[in-house]
Amino acid sequence: MLRLRLLLLALSLIALAGASGARPAAIGLVTDTGGRAGTAVSISSGAGDDALFCDSWRLSVETANAGPWRTVPARCAGFVRDYMEGPRYASDSAVVAADSLAFASDALAAAVWGGGAATARPAWVFDVDETLLSNAPYYAVNGWGSQEYNETSWDEWVDVAKAPALPSSLKLYNDLQELGFHVILLTGRGESQRNSTEANLLFAGYNSWEKLILRQPSDIGKTAVLYKSERRAAMEAEGFKILGNSGDQWSDLIGSPMAMRSFKLPNPMYFIS
Ligand SMILES: *[C@@H]1O[C@H](CO)[C@@H](O)[C@H](O)[C@H]1NC(C)=O
Ligand SMILES: *[C@@H]1O[C@H](CO)[C@@H](O)[C@H](O)[C@H]1NC(C)=O
Repeated sequence: MLRLRLLLLALSLIALAGASGARPAAIGLVTDTGGRAGTAVSISSGAGDDALFCDSWRLSVETANAGPWRTVPARCAGFVRDYMEGPRYASDSAVVAADSLAFASDALAAAVWGGGAATARPAWVFDVDETLLSNAPYYAVNGWGSQEYNETSWDEWVDVAKAPALPSSLKLYNDLQELGFHVILLTGRGESQRNSTEANLLFAGYNSWEKLILRQPSDIGKTAVLYKSERRAAMEAEGFKILGNSGDQWSDLIGSPMAMRSFKLPNPMYFIS
């Protein structure tokens, strides 16, 4: 997968640090140089000050208040592990899915989409990683986001094609199809990963997507916001009306055109601009 780490990052972080004296300078800047892909990483559970700080840090990244960030602060790796492996991640994701489904049925029932245009096809866009599929097994052996992104080990993991489904997303996916939505998958993964991505989706229980859109060579260098906005525009030009969009990154959701409603899934492990 292409993780575009903007060169702007360092500048933004410096600006952020300068703009807020109380903000802990560690956010997004700490790199765990001790751990390496595939090796055991020593992680202690967040306790006391760390637990409190890391919960606030998580809110800050989910709301995008944190801006671009590179790695989970070293002191929060244990917190992120506990969040991902414990009941909170599953519960948070299930609430997002329930809110999504409530909106979806209302939107169809009220026929607010399409402005009465009989040709508009109601569509729902899903991102793939940390939206339909969970890569928690990969991050479990790679420091839970406290290590720098490693394209080599990531690509190896994608090729294994055994990432499990996020259970609440799989249920939402099936419910939306039953309601009559056209489900379109829009991922930052590259076209060269189409086969492994399709194999993984089927392995995880996903079926009958309308289309699976991956980055083409001409998309290299584009931010996720630009690439995904362009693809949503193409969908609308094809006659799809995008009622809902589900993603774990704001870059899955923002940009024009935007879905009627966007649904942000939790992801405290990494950031994509
Ligand atoms: C990245 O992953 C590869 C494959 O697992 C590994 O050989 C390499 O050492 C890793 N690089 C870093 C900087 O951790
Ligand atoms: C993907 O699968 C198709 C059909 O099985 C095959 O022809 C093609 O070579 C595969 N592509 C890659 C990149 O492995």
